[in-house]
Amino acid sequence: MILSARGVVRSYGPTPAVRGVTLDVAEGEILAVTGPSGCGKSTLLHCLAGIIRPDAGEVTYRDQRVDLMSEAARSRLRRTEFGVLFQFGQLVAELTAAENVALPLLLAGTGRRAARTAALAWLDRAGVADVADQRPGQMSGGQQQRVAMARALVTEPRIVFADEPTGALDTLAGEQVLGQLVRVAHEHRTAVVLVTHEARVAGHADRELVLRDGALDDSGLGIAVPTGRHGR
Ligand SMILES: Nc1ncnc2c1ncn2[C@@H]1O[C@H](COP(=O)(O)OP(=O)(O)OP(=O)(O)O)[C@@H](O)[C@H]1O
Ligand SMILES: [Mg+2]
Repeated sequence: MILSARGVVRSYGPTPAVRGVTLDVAEGEILAVTGPSGCGKSTLLHCLAGIIRPDAGEVTYRDQRVDLMSEAARSRLRRTEFGVLFQFGQLVAELTAAENVALPLLLAGTGRRAARTAALAWLDRAGVADVADQRPGQMSGGQQQRVAMARALVTEPRIVFADEPTGALDTLAGEQVLGQLVRVAHEHRTAVVLVTHEARVAGHADRELVLRDGALDDSGLGIAVPTGRHGR
């Protein structure tokens, strides 16, 4: 297992958002977490990715207890071993696609030339080499999400956390971005935790877990509902 959660609980004031979730993510696995709006998917994902701390329970990445780490240690993990991809790419508007993708490498201390070379290679893998020198405002939504995907993958993370990564796209653009993400993740043996309320999107995963009212449908035993193997 690359990532394990045991009894993860997280509330916002009196509102329980996640109530004791236990799950495992295998090396290179694409795991979908689905469920209706408000069931706690984003909160769970943020706990798994070390963006927020659970109130109770454990999150373990390899041998490291993410839930016990300092903010600094968690952000280091997010810069190196983890990748994140959200509904809106959150690209830096003033930077070109290539500069956006190079940014995580520059922050990690990679030299400018090497960072640009890697950024161009990942833009190419994401199918958007042609927008390398354009700024986000000049790109379509689908192009922006592909650039965001390249940025999430450029550090070659071992696991990518994706929250509704196609939520802002139309069906066709969404399918293309997801297809590409799944293909690249499998090629690089990168695990993906994919949060979505769309069954169609979950169909791209190797396995699906259903969250309802902050708990897994199987009462947290971690039994997976098998899905069609990663789309077509
Ligand atoms: N920052 C917050 N402050 C207070 N309550 C919150 C906060 N974020 C989420 N919640 C509440 O926690 C519960 C779970 O929210 P969460 O965003 O995790 O659900 P979700 O499954 O991702 O929903 P969606 O599909 O709409 O994105 C909801 O009841 C929500 O109102
Ligand atoms: Mg959400």
